[in-house]
Amino acid sequence: MNGLAELGMRARGKVVRLNLGPFRPYLVTHPDHVQHVLRDNAGNYARQGMFWRPLNRLLGDGILGDGPAWESSRKILQALFTTRYVDSLADTIAKTVDERVAELDETARSGRTVDAAREMAALVNQSVVRVLFGDAISRTDGERLMTAYHAADAAVTFRLLAPFMPYWARMPGDRAFLSAVATIDDVVYPVIRRARARAAGDDGIDVISALCRARDGRDPGHDRWIRDDLVSVYAAASETTATTLTWLWTELDAHPAVAARMNAEIERVVGTGPALPSHVPELRYTTMVLQEVMRLHPAGWLFPRMATGADTIGGTRVKAGSMVLISPYATHRLAEFWDRPLEFDPERFAPRTGERRHRYAYFPFGGGAHQCLGRHLFDMDAPLMVAALVSRFRPRLAGGGPFTPAPTALLRPRQKVELRLLPAGHPTRIPS
Ligand code: HEM
Repeated sequence: MNGLAELGMRARGKVVRLNLGPFRPYLVTHPDHVQHVLRDNAGNYARQGMFWRPLNRLLGDGILGDGPAWESSRKILQALFTTRYVDSLADTIAKTVDERVAELDETARSGRTVDAAREMAALVNQSVVRVLFGDAISRTDGERLMTAYHAADAAVTFRLLAPFMPYWARMPGDRAFLSAVATIDDVVYPVIRRARARAAGDDGIDVISALCRARDGRDPGHDRWIRDDLVSVYAAASETTATTLTWLWTELDAHPAVAARMNAEIERVVGTGPALPSHVPELRYTTMVLQEVMRLHPAGWLFPRMATGADTIGGTRVKAGSMVLISPYATHRLAEFWDRPLEFDPERFAPRTGERRHRYAYFPFGGGAHQCLGRHLFDMDAPLMVAALVSRFRPRLAGGGPFTPAPTALLRPRQKVELRLLPAGHPTRIPS
């Protein structure tokens, strides 16, 4: 990962041909070139190819795919994930978040540490499950979904690291992956059948109700489509947000002045809570901190495309069938576009400085036709979650670090991030 960023940085944004054993993808980092691939000539760059294949059994053929199935899903989901829609869910999300954070009181009192990655995933899971399924799923099933999704994600790593391996060759993780996918299906299909049964005349605002209404019973493969979109949105929404929040605590620990300013803002705006959707527009500094976390640690750090026809990117000829790698992780570190690129500094996102930036110098949510559908949701629920936590606790790292990224599909810290939840207002740092 660092290697990839370094290659991009050393090439100063020029297209680089990588030599990864049996195949040689192009690394594209210059914002002009990223714009070319994701937007201007996006028709030539399909989201398919060997990198995506291992995930197919999990995600199926819908919003995280490409072609006509993707287009149909995108039409339905894009109409759904508007700011108005997110606003309509905001109170439910805030309540869910507050309840889940309150459950940490006991742990905080006991002085036990928590695993940030796990706690952030559990917190995000509650709210994503609520958005997707409303009250059509039990808490136990919501947690089964999360556990199975984690297992699938961990098990598929071998395949992602060796995407050229044929499927007749057994690899470590294959069996665990299929078993986790079977558990996900076991949870999701019955919920779909129940939601479909009551979809007629139902005005539920959760995603499953909307999908059931949009995918009427005459569509062949109706339930499979709904399942693929639900699982894909779950995958796209849950780990990305949870990983971002996990990196947040590592940066706050390393930058106490930033932490103090963010805590003071939350104290002023939210007080002792609960954090409400109406607080979010006032949490400006907290939002800047999250933006800077996503600059240095973009959860979707690498997304591959396949060139369907020959093309030229920034003077480099790219043959049809070549893989092109887009990496916000590398682009966000280019010295040509970022002053002191490796330094964590939320001030970069102060409203007055944002306007001069190239649109594709900062793209943690991708761009073009496949641009993230969850942006509004993230802009609302991530600050809410941080505010809910900070209005009750002062999460502090209990040692560990330095934190480096693990070689997985999402940009996770390789090391465990352990937090101690001190009471809010506690000024001292935990000695490591
Ligand atoms: C920190 C949080 C998030 C990050 C960093 C993130 C990042 C991304 C990126 C980079 C893409 C583009 C992938 C590509 O071009 O191949 C994407 C697509 C997508 N994201 Fe997010 N995402 C986040 C949160 C969410 C949330 C909360 C949702 C919930 C709805 C969501 C739903 C989606 C969907 C459905 C797509 C596929 C869109 C398409 O291809 O048409 N994401 N996301």
